[in-house]
Amino acid sequence: KAKEREEILETGASIRVKLGEAKEILDSLNQPWRKISVVQTDINACLMRALQKNYMEVSIDASQTRIEVDDGVVFHTTLANDLPSIQSSPDMLTEAFKVIVKNSLEAIKEKEKDKFMWIDSSLKNDNIIMVNIRDSGTGIKKENFNKIFELGWSSKKGMGMGFGLFWTKDFIEGLGGTIALESVWQKGTTFHITIPLHKNH
Ligand SMILES: Nc1ncnc2c1ncn2[C@@H]1O[C@H](COP(=O)(O)OP(=O)(O)OP(=O)(O)O)[C@@H](O)[C@H]1O
Ligand SMILES: [Mg+2]
Repeated sequence: KAKEREEILETGASIRVKLGEAKEILDSLNQPWRKISVVQTDINACLMRALQKNYMEVSIDASQTRIEVDDGVVFHTTLANDLPSIQSSPDMLTEAFKVIVKNSLEAIKEKEKDKFMWIDSSLKNDNIIMVNIRDSGTGIKKENFNKIFELGWSSKKGMGMGFGLFWTKDFIEGLGGTIALESVWQKGTTFHITIPLHKNH
């Protein structure tokens, strides 16, 4: 009984944290008086800031190619240095990348060894920016490929809200972009993101 009670209290606390995070995002989306500035946005800078939001000690210098953090995770970054900027909100795009990086780190931490992430950006056909975020985490089962983008679907019992990717997909698609998934169960996962330089209406 005591153990049960403790578990319920713990779950309650983590739900409150998640609700706080969700509220922050919803606030920034729904408060019409809160200005979301759309400016020239450097995608590489957003990727580095997304890393830094997960690891405060990481510097945002985009010329780094290998970053090792305290808990043994190694990031390999290959960021194109000739990427044109896009019209977007840097804070929102950073948040979208942060969601993906955070999920990757959570999947990596389930494993004992081989803790890697690869992040690359490139320009394709002069008009599409491609970002790939790959991890050596738990992978995702094929039958769940579509579910992970659904609102409220989470495999993290009591720890996840299933909100992150739902929002991220919506945001990337709002930029005229796409997000696609490649994953092998127990091996790892890659998210392929495209963002057009000019949104076609
Ligand atoms: N890189 C990944 N490796 C393995 N599973 C993943 C990865 N990214 C997403 N998933 C799966 O997709 C699900 C949905 O992710 P999403 O970020 O939307 O929600 P969450 O992480 O469970 O909760 P939260 O809303 O708090 O982020 C996760 O619960 C997990 O099962
Ligand atoms: Mg998540």
